[in-house]
Amino acid sequence: MLTLLVLVAALVACVAGQRGGGAGSQHWKHGPTFGWRTSRSKSYIIEAETTLHPGLPPAGKLPRLALWPGLDTKDGLVQPIIVSTKKEEYAKCKTTETQWCVFASYLKYPLTQKMGNQVVMEGTDALTMKFKYNKTVGGYEQWLYLKGSMVSYVASPTGMSKSFYTDVECQQDHVGVVKAHNYTETKITLSEADPQWGLNPSNHAMACADKISTPDGGKTWIVPTIRVSESVALRDYTNSGAVKPGPVICAGR
Ligand SMILES: *[C@@H]1O[C@H](CO)[C@@H](O)[C@H](O)[C@H]1NC(C)=O
Ligand SMILES: *[C@@H]1O[C@H](CO)[C@@H](O)[C@H](O)[C@H]1NC(C)=O
Repeated sequence: MLTLLVLVAALVACVAGQRGGGAGSQHWKHGPTFGWRTSRSKSYIIEAETTLHPGLPPAGKLPRLALWPGLDTKDGLVQPIIVSTKKEEYAKCKTTETQWCVFASYLKYPLTQKMGNQVVMEGTDALTMKFKYNKTVGGYEQWLYLKGSMVSYVASPTGMSKSFYTDVECQQDHVGVVKAHNYTETKITLSEADPQWGLNPSNHAMACADKISTPDGGKTWIVPTIRVSESVALRDYTNSGAVKPGPVICAGR
């Protein structure tokens, strides 16, 4: 329980944008980020999916470095977590140097985290994540897949979201290089078509898309690849995300 509480507290601190720092080397900071966070559109996300290719986790397995795609809701964050940390931290995730621990998760502010199964993932594998708004649930269902099998699931009455963005989050003692990684076959479906929705992502720092398109006038948005640059913690990290905004579309694409 202690472990879970610490993680919850850490995530909350980040999400709420409180200052990191404090005693010793403890910190909670954000690096490369890409996506849509401040939409004023009427449309909500009814379905989303993406596949993360995380690559090898940072050397040393210091607690804690987390990758996640997230959907902000009124009082929380729908947020599958891909974390690199010391192997003792999660009971079911005795990870080696080449592995991540992954689980579906919903963080309800301030301190309630609902987590799905925790499973080990090789850095060379791909993790597919799907989200679907379910009226009966009153929120999003979340499914994680490894090698075609569903490995972790969470459903919560989260309410609806207008945002979808990726983040790299650095907590506690973690410092050092976080390798470049990417999200492929990202597809976001809105409640109603909005031809402007996907064109201007609010978040684009040390990360870019190769292309953003909508085949149906703004109901479905497709990003073949989101490329997240290599980053160095803490150099490239702040309390709210990587310092330098870069291009939305990657150079040469
Ligand atoms: C929505 O969730 C309910 C409750 O878990 C489930 O029975 C139902 O099949 C889901 N609906 C859809 C459309 O998947
Ligand atoms: C995404 O990353 C994976 C793993 O590093 C790599 O094999 C793949 O080629 C990358 N995909 C694209 C489209 O860049």
